[in-house]
Amino acid sequence: MKNIAVFCSGGGTNLQAIIDACDRGEIPGKIACVVYNRKAAFARQRAENAGIPAVYVNRKTLGSDEAFDSANLEALIKYRADIIVLAGYLSKLSPEIIDRYKNLILNIHPALIPAFCGTGMHGIHVHEAVIAYGAKVTGVTVHLCDESYDSGPIVCQRAIEVLDDDTPESLQERVLSQVEHVLLPEAVRLLCEERIEVIGRRVRIKS
Ligand code: GRF
Repeated sequence: MKNIAVFCSGGGTNLQAIIDACDRGEIPGKIACVVYNRKAAFARQRAENAGIPAVYVNRKTLGSDEAFDSANLEALIKYRADIIVLAGYLSKLSPEIIDRYKNLILNIHPALIPAFCGTGMHGIHVHEAVIAYGAKVTGVTVHLCDESYDSGPIVCQRAIEVLDDDTPESLQERVLSQVEHVLLPEAVRLLCEERIEVIGRRVRIKS
């Protein structure tokens, strides 16, 4: 059983999908802690409802990058995290954490990387950009984290059609409920099962 640390900034529907998959016994791991960086994040409530310790680590409150980085690391050590999942987390982890957890950090992005990703591409902005561009297909990417945004090796991707009458909000809702909540728990399972092999930029799933 792996100890999973989930980092969140918002509503935490992806966190909930992982909690539910763990409860159904689909993931050989348990969520050891949730780290959140926004006071109002509903993810905190979801963690508490599930009896998972929730740790608030906010850069501004702590006053410096160093204090923020070490509070994150402290939480990971305290709860003996083996793997990290960034589930809608809008902050960067320190190079030290990224190095210590090399190929053990998953991030989810609500588009098909390398399209519609990078700086500023988060939340509803991603779906606004997809619709403004007129793309007919979008989707979800789960990837391993390196020191840049949305740039690490891709673990899995799944596509979904953009419908003619989609708005950014309707697209966001379908991407979340039909794809993200299925694909992220699957990727967490693969990482907990130690089946993710990284060869250069490519990921192979071991059988
Ligand atoms: C998701 O769309 C995720 O892909 C992105 O941020 C959003 C978080 O949603 N990185 P939630 O907090 O899991 O509901």
